[in-house]
Amino acid sequence: MKGIVLAGGSATRLRPLTSTLSKHILPVYDKPMIYYPLSVLMLAGVRDVLIVHRAHHAGLFRELLGDGSHLGIHIEYAEQDEPNGIAEALIIGADFIGDDQVALVLGDNIFHGPRFTKVLGDSARELDGCALFGYWVSDPRSYAVGETGPDGRLVSLEEKPDRPRSNLAVTGLYMYDSDVVGIAKNMVPSARGELEITDVNRAYLEQGRARLTELGRGFAWLDMGTQESLLHAGQYVQLLEQRQGERIACIEEVALNCGFISPAQCRRLGEQLSGSAYGSYVCHIADRHGPATAA
Ligand code: DAU
Repeated sequence: MKGIVLAGGSATRLRPLTSTLSKHILPVYDKPMIYYPLSVLMLAGVRDVLIVHRAHHAGLFRELLGDGSHLGIHIEYAEQDEPNGIAEALIIGADFIGDDQVALVLGDNIFHGPRFTKVLGDSARELDGCALFGYWVSDPRSYAVGETGPDGRLVSLEEKPDRPRSNLAVTGLYMYDSDVVGIAKNMVPSARGELEITDVNRAYLEQGRARLTELGRGFAWLDMGTQESLLHAGQYVQLLEQRQGERIACIEEVALNCGFISPAQCRRLGEQLSGSAYGSYVCHIADRHGPATAA
């Protein structure tokens, strides 16, 4: 399975924070925002990643993440000229996806919770059409909203409805079979001029090939489009990390746990960040994981 992180958009609601910077580089407590969605793809076992970004932000992402080889993955980059919609990432990434399955994750979404790696693995393995992930929210009107049948199949889907039919928000993580590129290429822009991911998902729904897995009560799903939600996400990460002594979305740790890099490689990454608590944590994780054999 290939993976795409969508890190374009204009993030107007976060100006002036985003007047010169991409939103996806902004700090969420102790690490750049993009670490969170990138770690989701890695936890799903994805090693080929495409980061879609605005042209003028190209240098930022390349400097931060390079070609991904230090994490045992392969990262490519592609530009989105204008924020023409989330589904455009599937067209921009058509050659990258090829005949493979693909997981698309929005660059401003955080997922954190028990058994998430298993949920991701099961969804990828059992993928038939498209897999969506739902989350119960008190007010779902700013999200896509879904309803499922008893077998977990999606039976209705609406984008940002005024009168939602359920409280199940569709999160910004989508898994698709290889049909998705053809489906996205046949889409027409919505009334707001965007290629909507919800229209792609609706095409699968109409074929009876869309599943929606509900992420349970103990799970955290956060998105970061406003100052308040950005701050809340940072506070959430700080609270849990300080309480538990474990870091959320530490990509070096995820790479180690996924077997993408050795403890020795992980330790070197920590040493490159020496002087920071984050770097010390990465070293500590590497030492805890096993002997630092050469790799
Ligand atoms: O967060 C989940 C929601 O994300 C879903 O429930 C909705 O169905 C989906 O449309 C989306 O809604 P948002 O209103 O949150 O989308 P937004 O325009 O804020 O973009 C989400 C991320 O995708 C953000 O990091 C910017 C990026 N993006 C967005 C667009 C439209 C791009 O990179 N390019 C784009 O063209």
